[in-house]
Amino acid sequence: MELLRFSTFWCGAILFGSVLLHGGGGVMFTLRRLCKFCDVQATSCTGQGSCSVKCGITSICPHDEDVCVSIWRKKEDNVTFDTVCHNPAQKLYGLVLEDYNNSKCEMKERRGMGSEFFICSCSQDECNEHVFFNTNMDSQVIAVSLVPLLLMTVLVITSFYFYRVYRQRQAHSKRKKGSPLDFSDAHAIIIDDEGSDSSSTHANNLNHNTELLPIELDVQVGKGRFAEVYKAKLKQGSSVSEEQGFETVAVKIFPYEEYASWKNEKDIFSDRDLRHENVLHFLTAEERKVQRQYWLITAFHPGGNLQEFLTHHIIDWHDLWLLGGSLAQGVAHLHSEHTSCGQHKVAIAHRDIKSSNILVKSDLTCCLCDFGLALWLDNSLSVDELANSGQVGTARYMAPEVLESRINLENIESFKQADVYSMALVLWEVISRCSAIGEVKEYEPPFGNLREHPCVESMKDSVLRDRGRPEIPNSWINHTGIQTVCASIEECWDHDPEARLTAQCVAERFHEMEYLEKLSDRSDSEEKIPEEISVVDEK
Ligand code: ADE
Repeated sequence: MELLRFSTFWCGAILFGSVLLHGGGGVMFTLRRLCKFCDVQATSCTGQGSCSVKCGITSICPHDEDVCVSIWRKKEDNVTFDTVCHNPAQKLYGLVLEDYNNSKCEMKERRGMGSEFFICSCSQDECNEHVFFNTNMDSQVIAVSLVPLLLMTVLVITSFYFYRVYRQRQAHSKRKKGSPLDFSDAHAIIIDDEGSDSSSTHANNLNHNTELLPIELDVQVGKGRFAEVYKAKLKQGSSVSEEQGFETVAVKIFPYEEYASWKNEKDIFSDRDLRHENVLHFLTAEERKVQRQYWLITAFHPGGNLQEFLTHHIIDWHDLWLLGGSLAQGVAHLHSEHTSCGQHKVAIAHRDIKSSNILVKSDLTCCLCDFGLALWLDNSLSVDELANSGQVGTARYMAPEVLESRINLENIESFKQADVYSMALVLWEVISRCSAIGEVKEYEPPFGNLREHPCVESMKDSVLRDRGRPEIPNSWINHTGIQTVCASIEECWDHDPEARLTAQCVAERFHEMEYLEKLSDRSDSEEKIPEEISVVDEK
């Protein structure tokens, strides 16, 4: 009603300014605001975009402080504009005019006014004639137009996520399909955690309806970081002993705490594509609940590991050729993306190649064992696996880039290149115990001048700072075959991972030396492998 009073007072007074006389003799001109001032009138404005209030009355506002105000309301079918002058220091309809300094009248919706209610205020003459609806509608329009974009983003992210899960499952099931534990007999022991992720608690994932193999443990033959290895006897009547002809086996026993290591090795071993004469033959895996242990049961090799073997034996060129060539073949098979039948297989990096992780078979060929740190080099490599894969293995055998934690995680070849470096050190160890080099010294590991378990820091000093490698004396290269192997070794332990040979190439070079092997005089072997080593356990 206050509005109405103003309206009557000024009605028809279309003026463009006012001159005010201030006391004290000075004349001061103050321009009062000119505003559209029609009080309430009907309008066809829909409350969207911009509208003209269509008010024919422009009034000089009654007070110096007044600004122009427009209000648009809609109650049922009744749509109106109010156009007034108002002092922003005072509330209007209980509302504070927040935008009165604006030059344009930008409508804002106010809720709880009993109708659809938009108000704007501004401080330019007649600025309330044209109003602009800055409604939530605008933001609604923006929001609505963003919805498809958001939906698309969500869709793309979810599809990508499910694609990754699908690829991981595929890789997982491919590995599992290849499990030697698929032997269709009822004694299959495995214990697998179908589609489980590595974070789930293992105890809940295991198949407990399994039959344990009748095994009698014998002496301990090895001890690693996570497990102990026992020679063991498979009692008569078990499927494995009858169908596969195993009587003596090796049992690798992990305490419950080392579940992760057992699981990794079991999973890797369960990949049928891994099977190769130069990879330890895996039989089965078990959870031994009573003893709170996890077991891996494999072929047993009385020759023990290569380090022990070299410690106790001097070999000849023929032995070197067998041991070295078979080692390279084993690593090449691991790294290969094809099986011997030419089918696709997932490459594996061993990541802990060293002479104590290589077994000597009775025919004096090698087989790789201890896959606790091995890694499938495929797309199923999770971000976690990659992130944790920077520096693993045994410091003495670590490639320079692994010591520096600078392995190129984006290229799966890097893992193979690091394995090849370690393999070169093992080949050097083998040569160091070969009678064909001349005087053979006591067995020493590579970098034997360092203490028993050198730490990463001292290995960095030797391998990175000093660019040191085990010595290849001149006397070694008098033998043509050894000269060739030494040349390969030097290429394999190159500082630059990219410059290293592949294991396949080394294997081929050994193969090409078959003629030398045939020419060799085997009488130079000082100490032959004891008789019992030729006991054949795999029938
Ligand atoms: N040491 C570790 N594993 C072995 C195995 N399978 N046979 C013999 N000795 C071993």
